[in-house]
This record gives sequence, C-alpha cells and structure tokens, in this order.
Amino acid sequence: METNIQSSSHKCLTSRLVSTSAQGGMSLDTSLNSVLDVNTADNAIILHTKPEPTIFTYDNVADADTTQEAVFSLVGKKIIEDCLNGYNGSILAYGKTGSGKSFTMFGPSENLESSQLRGVIPRSLEYLFSVIAHQQDHGSKKQFLCRCSFLEIYQEQIFDLLDTASQGIRLCENMNKGVFIDGLIEQVICNPRDAYQLIIKGWLNRRVALTSMNREGSCSHAVFTVKIESKEEVGGFQKSNISQINLIDLAGSERQKATNTDSTRLKISKNRGFESFFQRL
Ligand SMILES: Nc1ncnc2c1ncn2[C@@H]1O[C@H](COP(=O)(O)OP(=O)(O)OP(=O)(O)O)[C@@H](O)[C@H]1O
Ligand SMILES: [Mg+2]
Repeated sequence: METNIQSSSHKCLTSRLVSTSAQGGMSLDTSLNSVLDVNTADNAIILHTKPEPTIFTYDNVADADTTQEAVFSLVGKKIIEDCLNGYNGSILAYGKTGSGKSFTMFGPSENLESSQLRGVIPRSLEYLFSVIAHQQDHGSKKQFLCRCSFLEIYQEQIFDLLDTASQGIRLCENMNKGVFIDGLIEQVICNPRDAYQLIIKGWLNRRVALTSMNREGSCSHAVFTVKIESKEEVGGFQKSNISQINLIDLAGSERQKATNTDSTRLKISKNRGFESFFQRL
C-alpha cells in the first residue's frame, strides 16, 4: 500500500510505502517475495512486473521503516518556512483506503501530543512556532498572528469540525474574497498547545459524526488550514503579509472513482464550486 503526499508551494511529490502489517497488525507470509522494492538513493519504487520491472520516480520516497519525523522533514519543513515568508502552501495526502493517509497527516488517535507517531499536521504547527520563536530570539521584530480552521467535506457538504453543532456550512464566491466558506470558525492560536487542542477537538468531532451520523470516514476529506498574518516595520513603513497553509487528508482515492457506480459515495469531483475550492488550495 502506498500513500502519496503532495506539497506545494515548491511542488514536491513524496511516496510512502506502508507495510501490510502496519494496517491492523495483519501478519505477512515472509516466504513470499515482495512485489516491489524501494530505492531510497534514487527516489524510485521498482514494481516487479514481467517481462521488465516498472520504475516510478518521485521527489522523495519513504519506505515502511521511515519515521513520522523523517516524513515531516521531507514534506513539511520547507513549506512552513515558505509560508512564514508570505507564500501559500498545501500538503495533501492521497492514496487508497487504508494506505496510511490519516496516519501520515494526523498520527494515532490516542495521546497525540506526546506520541512519537504524531503526524505532519501536529509537527507542522510545532515547527511553525519553533521558527517564529527562533526568529524572535535572533532579534526579529516581525509580529505573527496565526488563525486556524478545521473542516470536513462529506458528500458535497462542508462541516465545521471546530463547531460541535455544525449542520453544514456554505461555499460562497464573491468579487472581493473569491471562493470562501461562509461562517467557518477561525480560531487564534499562540502556541503548539493551542494547536493541539484544536486538532483534538476537530478530530473528536469527526469521530462523533462518523458514528452518530453514520458518515463513512474514508469517504470524507479533512482540511486543516492555518492563516498567518505578519506585520513588521521597515524604514518607517508598516509592512504586512497574509499567507496560508492547507493540510489535507483526502478521502480514499478509489472512493472517488466509485462515484459513477454508487451515488451515495463522494461526489466532490462533479461539483464546480468544490473544484475551484480545491484549485485555490
Ligand atoms: N506508517 C504506519 N505505521 C504504523 N501504522 C500505520 C502506518 N500507516 C498506517 N497505519 C495504520 O494503518 C491503518 C490504516 O491507516 P489510515 O487510517 O491512516 O488509512 P487511510 O489511508 O487514512 O484510510 P481511509 O482512506 O480509509 O481514510 C490504521 O490503523 C493506521 O494506524
Ligand atoms: Mg483516513
């Protein structure tokens, strides 16, 4: 199984292999030969097809032993640094159901804050605040304001994961703002602890909705967004900037393909509004 992580601003595709044993502890028959190899030196995945092997090359590849920290270093650090310099960026995890997208982006559902297995989203927020602190320790007078939102898209409907009573909010478009989500809660965070509280709150809301409203988790997209406003005085003038980073855990890719055969499945790709929303990300 393979999860892919695409990061922009500096367009970069990372492929992460997940061993079958990672998915719910199934044991592997070690007498069987592996159908693919990972060549980390050349960033390639070699699929043992006949008569010739097929080689896929990525910007980065991560094998089944690559840690969450190493994956974050590959996909996250540069984008956070760019975002603090005023560029927008997105990190998307996509792949089949069970390939490790949510694990890569969030981590384990228990003890997220202290776990070594915490994923790209918590690590991105930790790194964001560590870079801000580092800049301020080195004399920077730049002031930052970080605001977060956390939403889920399920069957063409948007739910605010920071609002326990969210019944669905609307995607809107106007001349000034372009495409935006009306009424989405944006909460100010000042440190990683604030960020963790939001991630855990949203995550719990997502799980409650899964059980109480019969939603299927692998059919929904989760988007965690951090908007960063910076202000600095340069030569007597106030210089300000706004950028944003979108951290996205997409629905299983085969669920989207299944749209044609099962109308209850995710229909996002058919909706022009959502198309432009994702293009904007
Ligand atoms: N690298 C890994 N190490 C250990 N366990 C993993 C790893 N990747 C995934 N898992 C485990 O595999 C299972 C499936 O992973 P996950 O829920 O992240 O898949 P997914 O791609 O998000 O699936 P879906 O499309 O259904 O949402 C989970 O129990 C998760 O904890
Ligand atoms: Mg998932």
